[in-house]
Amino acid sequence: MKLAQRVESIALSQTLAVKKAAEELKRQGSDVIDLGPGEPDFATPEHIKIAAKRAIDQNFTKYTAEVGIPELRQAIVDKYNLSCKTSYKSENVIVTSGAKQALYHIATALFEEGDEVIIPAPYWVSYPEQVRLNDAQPIIVETRESDHFRLKASAIERALSSRTRAVIINSPNNPTGATIEQSELEAIVQLAHKHKFFVVFDECYEHFLYQGKHSCAAEFDAERVIVVSSVSKSYAMTGWRIGWALGPLPIIQALSKIQSHSTSHPTSIAQHAAVAALYGDQLCLKEMLSQYTERRAFVLEEVAKIPGMQCSVPTGAFYIFPNISGFCDGRAIKNSVDFARFLLQEAHVAVVPGSAFGTEGYVRLSYATSMSQLAEGMSRMRRALSRVRATA
Ligand SMILES: Cc1ncc(COP(=O)(O)O)c(C=O)c1O
Repeated sequence: MKLAQRVESIALSQTLAVKKAAEELKRQGSDVIDLGPGEPDFATPEHIKIAAKRAIDQNFTKYTAEVGIPELRQAIVDKYNLSCKTSYKSENVIVTSGAKQALYHIATALFEEGDEVIIPAPYWVSYPEQVRLNDAQPIIVETRESDHFRLKASAIERALSSRTRAVIINSPNNPTGATIEQSELEAIVQLAHKHKFFVVFDECYEHFLYQGKHSCAAEFDAERVIVVSSVSKSYAMTGWRIGWALGPLPIIQALSKIQSHSTSHPTSIAQHAAVAALYGDQLCLKEMLSQYTERRAFVLEEVAKIPGMQCSVPTGAFYIFPNISGFCDGRAIKNSVDFARFLLQEAHVAVVPGSAFGTEGYVRLSYATSMSQLAEGMSRMRRALSRVRATA
């Protein structure tokens, strides 16, 4: 069947094969420990659920403005103007169906054939595909384990060309958990100003920080920056599908045109729930962070006990990205997909291969799961990997 060229040029997620295999094993009744998910295991906090139920009872069940309800746009602006000292107005915000849709709208509004978009690797899986789907070319810039996967402005500067349209920065990063230093972020925003490209700044994991202080790119120059985030990870609301983009007015107007002809707007009920998330009690963030802190320390300790596996210490998000190249012997385990398959078959533990994030020789483990699951998963992993080392 003939499909549009733009679809032919994108890959189906590489994570899918391992995920499917894990689901198949679960269906057959195997007790699979899933360290793959990119979503919090916590329930959405009660006061947010109550706000959603109230929205239904009060019949907030009709179409809303394509840019989102005024209360939510204002809540988003208030959040940024308070924490980043920006002077956004509600016209600078569009509410979208998750951060993913905000990123996709931005790609559609800004990128076209001939444009280059710089993406630091390891990257979140959808960035390069969204760029390709909009006929532009992703330019991948590697970050290194020896630098704790921290992005440097000099690496972006080296990748610039007259075709550079944007750089997509994600801090804290999925999958490495790395965060960008404030001075490096400021230097990248200055480059954007000088060379007239945009910084798309994805800060979906901003609340999960274990060291230092989060910096938002908009603090330095709101004219060249488009900030993207959501309530998905912060408030354990992945299924509610509420995210946003904040940026210069002409860009937000362009995104709203696209949204008005695609999904219209995110669900009215979920928008009311997101208002409660942003204006409500923030204690839930502290509680989740405290549990992630404990789990992170535990998985890092456990990884350190596995001979042949090293891990850069992540400063944010809820992932670790250990180096597994010592297990890739060129025979049974050649790469990260083989490694993930081996763990699934031998230990019934699911992880995500690094190749899905553009970086071979690593896997992503999520600690957004209970301590008991983590303990069982790490112990099974250690046992299975000791057999690989023994036969290597
Ligand atoms: C870095 C990053 N950006 C964006 C998203 C999409 O978030 P949402 O669920 O709000 O669309 C994810 C989800 O995994 C992510 O990890």
